[in-house]
Amino acid sequence: MAASQDIIKQLALIKTTIAEYNYQYYVLDNPSVPDAEYDRQMQALQSIEQEYPELLTDDSPSQKVGDIPLPEFKQVEHEVPMLSLDNAFDRDSFLAFEKRMQDRIKDDSEISYSCEPKLDGLAVSLLYENGKLVRGATRGDGRTGENITANVRTIKNIPLVLRGRDYPERLEVRGEVIMTRDGFIKLNKTQLEQDKKAFANPRNAAAGSLRQLDSRITAKRPLLFFTYSLGLVENEQYPLADTHSARLRQLSEWGLPLSKELDVAQGAEACLDYYQHIGEIRDSLNYDIDGVVFKADNIELQQELGFVARAPRWAIAHKFPAQEEMTVVQDVEFQVGRTGAITPVARLEPVFVGGVTVSNATLHNQDEIQRLGLKIGDTVIIRRAGDVIPQVVSVIVDKRPADARDIVFPETCPICDSAIEKLEDEAVARCTGGLYCGAQLKESMKHFASRKAFDIDGLGDKIIDQLVDQKLVKTAADFFKLELIQISNLERMGEKSAANLIQSLENSKQTTLAKFMYSLGIREVGEATAANLAAHYCELDAIKQADLESLQEVSDVGAIVAQHLVNFFAEEHNVQVIDDLLAAGIHWPKIEKVELSSLPLAGQTFVLTGTLAQMDRNTAKATLQGLGAKVAGSVSAKTSCVVAGEKAGSKLAKAEELGVKVMSEQDMLDLFSELETSV
Ligand code: IVH
Repeated sequence: MAASQDIIKQLALIKTTIAEYNYQYYVLDNPSVPDAEYDRQMQALQSIEQEYPELLTDDSPSQKVGDIPLPEFKQVEHEVPMLSLDNAFDRDSFLAFEKRMQDRIKDDSEISYSCEPKLDGLAVSLLYENGKLVRGATRGDGRTGENITANVRTIKNIPLVLRGRDYPERLEVRGEVIMTRDGFIKLNKTQLEQDKKAFANPRNAAAGSLRQLDSRITAKRPLLFFTYSLGLVENEQYPLADTHSARLRQLSEWGLPLSKELDVAQGAEACLDYYQHIGEIRDSLNYDIDGVVFKADNIELQQELGFVARAPRWAIAHKFPAQEEMTVVQDVEFQVGRTGAITPVARLEPVFVGGVTVSNATLHNQDEIQRLGLKIGDTVIIRRAGDVIPQVVSVIVDKRPADARDIVFPETCPICDSAIEKLEDEAVARCTGGLYCGAQLKESMKHFASRKAFDIDGLGDKIIDQLVDQKLVKTAADFFKLELIQISNLERMGEKSAANLIQSLENSKQTTLAKFMYSLGIREVGEATAANLAAHYCELDAIKQADLESLQEVSDVGAIVAQHLVNFFAEEHNVQVIDDLLAAGIHWPKIEKVELSSLPLAGQTFVLTGTLAQMDRNTAKATLQGLGAKVAGSVSAKTSCVVAGEKAGSKLAKAEELGVKVMSEQDMLDLFSELETSV
């Protein structure tokens, strides 16, 4: 049966509704409806299209699933060449660029720059004719690229049809396709599970995903597009804006996604501030960037300045220090951690990466060594992002020397020679020596003295190493038996600092039950769990005597943590250390058992959503629970409050729909400090 006018109208309405939802979600980052409503519209669309296949068009929002494989990519000639950018690798070369700009304009007013992050993905051109996406192409050599239309159509935030009416008849939009970081981690996990090769980084994964002849594969990859310029523009209905940044905003009104960090700066100093700012937030972004781009904002000025070779004179990429570098693995050693975990560590030929010189990189565990296929002597790519421990990303097998050696995992602990145990479902191998093992002992003592535990000022790692090596400290209780003369005899210790240390030891004796529990270093008992245990049981003896069942009533404690606790207290030597600590005078204020119903947030249900920037989610959850609230995973009419972090999506939308109270992360932190002082 042919479709009636009503059906045709209904279909058009559904399509515009979905396009609008996509725009709110991907461009404005502010969805107005919950996911379920989106799904309903999509289902309605699909069912009409199924019933009336003649109504199915390739710009329908249902078509983001990919098409049958192509035999090969066709070539695309770029009508306006896709150029590259000059780079500045440091402040001076950026300032030199800026001075050249300033000299050319022969006027001493400060130049306005459009400031954008330099996205680390692939340059892509999208051609829209009469508002419809008709072609997607790679940059290729700048003149000729590959036609990847079928693939770009599957990218979730690329509009197949532009919004509004006032766009030019032919409009070429340029930008970068990137893979999100969390999507990349998930993708690599699946690749490995399916015995496929992992990708070295999100950029490679994005490139691999975009150059698939089978667009159904591209459709499944977590790719996003961000626009950064215009290419060909023909038959515009209105003159385009006269600055680059205003043109980008115009593109975003037509539905094209724009980086949220876009800004405008006047003059060199403001640009440098922007560089600094983006460097600071870099790690919190969900995609990789490798610098920032500054472009003279005034289009007339751009035209006046023109191009040299293959890059514009009016723009520069101010790069961050490289986060990936090549170096050689000279050796692999095995470190023993506080809980006995044995971590292979690559000793590297020192290399400058991510702004510092790096000579070690973690190899995590045996599986990781196998995954990398690493041998000693190999040339590798290492990566250091932010404060994260440097990682080995991949091995350059072509550079493997003839005398490369296999990495032999030790059979006994390299420190104490105890047996090494590897449980079947754990990737980590562990030394079974417990506190008999010098390495575990040192790490446990460092944990005990650390800021969140006993917070003993002046008791640093080097001092602890000496105290353990000289057998002055065998358990944490021994710290409190140290005499002034024993401490002042240590290397790098004078009379004065020894006396200070004795004083800090004395001061640390006054603590809290939560800190005491944390300081014991029981496996998987972190700060939040320790606090929950203290709040739940109020007394140490009650925790010591608790059985598996009772322990699991504590928020945050599951079967595994409960078992670790029971095992810990079953060891005579652990109980002895606790007794010795108490005998040394460690004490804490008595905790009054608080009736749950008297807690300030009793009876309230909170939902956490989005990314929290200042407090990790587990701590936030534990703190809320500590204040008497329940923390749920989904929003309903019964929810008292939704805490929306960055990039909050459907849960936030649902809260707004249901009229549930919404607070920001900062509101929550303010609430915590307000309530904690009143409790
Ligand atoms: S503008 C004529 N802006 O960097 C100017 N490029 O090194 C052309 N890139 O091929 C590019 N973020 O793939 C521009 N905000 C941004 C960018 C950006 C990333 C890439 C782009 C280009 C490469 C040049």
